[in-house]
Amino acid sequence: MKAVGVAQPRIEGPAKVTGAARYAADIPIEGLAFGAVVLATVSRGRIREIDVGAVCDLPGVLGVIHHRNAPRLNPKAGGFFGPDGQLQLLQDEVIPFAGRPVALVVAETFEQAQAAAHALPVTYDEEPHDTGFTADHPAGRPASTIFDGPVDVADVEAELAASSVVVEERYRTPEEHHSAMEPHSATAWWDGERLEAIDSNQGPFVIAATLATLFSLSLEKVRIRTEHVGGGFGSKGLCGPQLILAAMGAQRFGRPVRVTLTRTQVFLTTAMRPATDQRIRIGADADGRLRAIWHESAFEISPLVEYIEGCTELTKTLYAARAIRTRLTAVPLDILPPYSMRGPGAAPGSFALESAMDELAERLGIDPLELRLRNEPATGPVSGLPFSSRNLVECLREGARRFGWGTRDHRPRLRREGSVLVGTGLAATSFSAGAFPSSATITAEADATFTVAIGATDLGTGARTALTAIAADALEVATEQIRLRISDSDLGPAWSAGGSRGTTSWAWAITEAAEKLRGQEWRGTVTIDTTQSLGGLADRERHAYSAVFAEVTADPATGEVRVRRLLGMFAVGRVVNPLLARSQVIGGMIGGLSMALHEEGMRDPVTGRHVNADFAGYHIAAHADVPDIEADFVPGHEPGIPLGMKGAGEIGNVGTAAAIVNAVWHATGVRQRSLPIRLDRVLE
Ligand code: MOS
Repeated sequence: MKAVGVAQPRIEGPAKVTGAARYAADIPIEGLAFGAVVLATVSRGRIREIDVGAVCDLPGVLGVIHHRNAPRLNPKAGGFFGPDGQLQLLQDEVIPFAGRPVALVVAETFEQAQAAAHALPVTYDEEPHDTGFTADHPAGRPASTIFDGPVDVADVEAELAASSVVVEERYRTPEEHHSAMEPHSATAWWDGERLEAIDSNQGPFVIAATLATLFSLSLEKVRIRTEHVGGGFGSKGLCGPQLILAAMGAQRFGRPVRVTLTRTQVFLTTAMRPATDQRIRIGADADGRLRAIWHESAFEISPLVEYIEGCTELTKTLYAARAIRTRLTAVPLDILPPYSMRGPGAAPGSFALESAMDELAERLGIDPLELRLRNEPATGPVSGLPFSSRNLVECLREGARRFGWGTRDHRPRLRREGSVLVGTGLAATSFSAGAFPSSATITAEADATFTVAIGATDLGTGARTALTAIAADALEVATEQIRLRISDSDLGPAWSAGGSRGTTSWAWAITEAAEKLRGQEWRGTVTIDTTQSLGGLADRERHAYSAVFAEVTADPATGEVRVRRLLGMFAVGRVVNPLLARSQVIGGMIGGLSMALHEEGMRDPVTGRHVNADFAGYHIAAHADVPDIEADFVPGHEPGIPLGMKGAGEIGNVGTAAAIVNAVWHATGVRQRSLPIRLDRVLE
C-alpha cells in the first residue's frame, strides 16, 4: 500500500476554493427554462382550485403543471423501505402535509418563475390535522426492519427487579433538518427517447432506477449525472422532488427545465429526522454490572412513507447485560415524511442510552468510564455472534488518557471559573458497518494510465481522493496514473454515498476489478459486478465504535452552554486517508454538537406548519460555536471487507450529543433529557 493510509488533501480542493467546481444549479444548458415549486400551506385537506389563469400572462411564464395535467406516475416506485408516496407528486388533490408540492410554474427565467409561483392562487378545503407527536399516541404501531426491530433476551422485568440500582427515564429529541449547504437542484431534459438529468444527490444509479420506475421507462432510457455535491446527510439519498418535477417540466414543455428549491422549501418538502421519545430502563448490581437494558423508542412518521428510526440498534451491541429488550413504535401523523439523517437512529438512540448510562454511573457512584469498561461484552449481547473487530475499550482508554479524564472529580457542580460552571462528560457509541454490491469498470489506456469508472458520488467527503488512492494501490501504479470517473448512472449499479458504506462498497468493486485486470496482464477493459455478498458477513457482528469526550461551560445567569473541548477516538478499521477521515469525523462531531445545543424544528400547534423553516429560525452550529476538536483513530483492520475498512461516514455524529449532555450535568448538576439544551432549559 503506497497511497492508502497517506494524508492527501482533496483532489478537487483547488477547484472548490477557486469557484471552478460546479454544483447542480451551476451547469449551463442550452435553452433552459426554470421551474418554481408551489407548496401546500395547509397540513391536511384537498386542493379546491388552482387559478392558473391568474399567472399565465405574467412575463415569461410558459405554463403551470398541477394535479389535473401532470404526467401520471407509476405508484410502485419506491426507496429502500418500499413504495414511497412522497414520490407521487401532483397526482391528485389530496394534501397529506403542509409543504407538499401542489404545482410547478415554468418560465423563461428563475425570477419570472418565482414571481409567478408567489402569485399563483391556490385554495384548499381544509380537514382536521394531527401533527402532535406523543409516545402514547393512539395511532402508534410496532415498527421493525432488518436493521432494527424488537428483541427479547432473557427476562428483563425479573432482572430489573433483582437490580441494586435502576435508572428509568425518558429522553426526547425534536424534528431535525439535514441542512446541507447546497439546496436541492435538478435539471432535466429529453434527448430523443432518453430522459437525462443533472441532479444533486447521493447516488445517481439508485435514483435513476427510481426515476425510471416513476416514469415507466426502462433503466437504459434514464441517465442521471452529478458533478460536485454540497452535502446530503441523507436528504439526497432519495429521488428528490426537484428531480421529479424537473422531469415533468421537461416532458411537458419539450425543453430543459431546472428546478432549484429555495432554502425554506428544502426545510418544508425534503426529508427530516423524526422527533423521538425514548424510555430507557437500566438495572445494575452494586458493582456496576448490568442486569437489564430495556429501551423503547417512539418516533413520528408519515403514512406516505415507511421509514424506521432505528434508535435501539446500538443498544444491541454496546454493553453486556443479562437481559435486553427493545421496542420501536411508529406514530403516523400529518407531517413531512421523515427519512434517514446523519447517523439515523443511532444519533438520537445514543443520546438516550448514553445519558442513561451516565445517570446510572452517578447513582452507583462509579466513574462513567469504569462503568463502560466493566460491561464490555465478549460476544454480541443479543446476537451471540463474535465481533468481527471492536476496539471500543481502546477508544475509551486512549481517549481518557489524551483528555485527562483520570483527574476528574465525578461530583457535579463543583468547578466554577469566573461566572461559569465547568464540566466534562463522555459517551461510547457504535454504528453498523458493511459493504453493498456495486459495479466498476477499469480500462488500461495506451498512455499507461487507467480509467476507473464507478457510480460513486462525492458529497464533499473526499470520495474522489479516497477512491483514487484505493485504485492506484489496487493497480500498483501512482495516483497520477488514475483517471477516476464517478457520478453517472451510466457507469452501472453502485451503492450510494450513504449508510457509512460508500467507500467500503466502491472499494470492493474497484479492488475486484483490478484483480481481474491483473489476470489480463493489465491489458484491455474489465467490468466487475459484486452482486454476491461478502464472505462471512452474516456470521460476525460488524460495527464501528467510538468514545467521545466533551468539556463544557454553563452560565447559570444566562443559561448559555458552550463546548470548550471535544475529543473523539474512533475505531473504523483501516483509515484510507487520515486527513479526510479526520475531516469527516470532526464534521460529524460538529453535527452532534449542533444536535445537542441548537437544532430544533418547531411547529405551530394550531396550523401544524413549521415556523422556523430557515436559517434565521433553525439554528445550526456556526464557526464561533465550535471549539478546537481532537479526533484520532485506533489502529484496526476489519476482516472480510476490502482493505479492512469499516466506514467513517456517520460514526462521528453519533455519541457527541450524549457526551455534551453528560458534561452539562457535571457542570450544573442538572440532567437535560430533552434536546436541544436551550437556554431556557438550563435556566429552569
Ligand atoms: Mo446517510 S443518513 O446514510 O445518507
